[in-house]
Amino acid sequence: MRSKIVAGNWKMNKTLSETEALIVELSGKLPDTDAEVMVAPTYVNLVGAVRELKGSSIEVIAQNMHFAENGAFTGEISADMLLDIDIKTVIIGHSERRALFGETDEILAKKVKTALGKNLRIMFCFGEELQDRKSGNHFNVVESQLKNALLSLDASAWSSIVLAYEPVWAIGTGETASPEQAQEMHAFIRKTILDAYDASIAENVSILYGGSVKPGNAEEIFSKPDVDGGLIGGAALVADDFIAIIKAL
Ligand code: PGA
Repeated sequence: MRSKIVAGNWKMNKTLSETEALIVELSGKLPDTDAEVMVAPTYVNLVGAVRELKGSSIEVIAQNMHFAENGAFTGEISADMLLDIDIKTVIIGHSERRALFGETDEILAKKVKTALGKNLRIMFCFGEELQDRKSGNHFNVVESQLKNALLSLDASAWSSIVLAYEPVWAIGTGETASPEQAQEMHAFIRKTILDAYDASIAENVSILYGGSVKPGNAEEIFSKPDVDGGLIGGAALVADDFIAIIKAL
């Protein structure tokens, strides 16, 4: 059975005191749910968030990591550093990392290998840009992003992978893929994994949708059979909105 997941990507938002305040509010309002709930504060606030959520069902996850074991990589964070503070899941390949920080499929494939080698769970993000969708090339782009970073991994790796389909044109823009567009792409992703592996891997991998998910549209998107939850940006910064999205799932 694949898990249902709602993850909040807080990006470069919230100071430590704001992070703590949001965590207190979320913890107080968290509904009973069979979904996994995750939050991804910025690096400098991870330790504080982990401490504050110790024993809670909310998991603290990281937004990024470097592929190297350690060394002269100023400003970067290693897998061991995450593990040492009890982080078990890391987002890899977010479109902002790809577009603004030059992370190519090749770099992401290295990060995936390192994270898996360290037994970290990966939330792997991918998705097409507006021009790809307009030109009808979106399936090809998504397939090649999967192929370049994931599809040559051993079958055993897939129990540690969560996928997050995030069409770039829907991230932070207020524009969402329609529930039908999300379902169509999620079904395509599952079929791509089925073709590369087998039915049990394809059926058991959680595929999240991300891109302007809000309390008002979450329920309809999550009602689609191949959508197993969401990766939430803007709406995850407001406790009541994030809670409403968890309830929608
Ligand atoms: P958004 O961001 O919900 O603000 O569109 C989603 C994401 O970047 O993961």
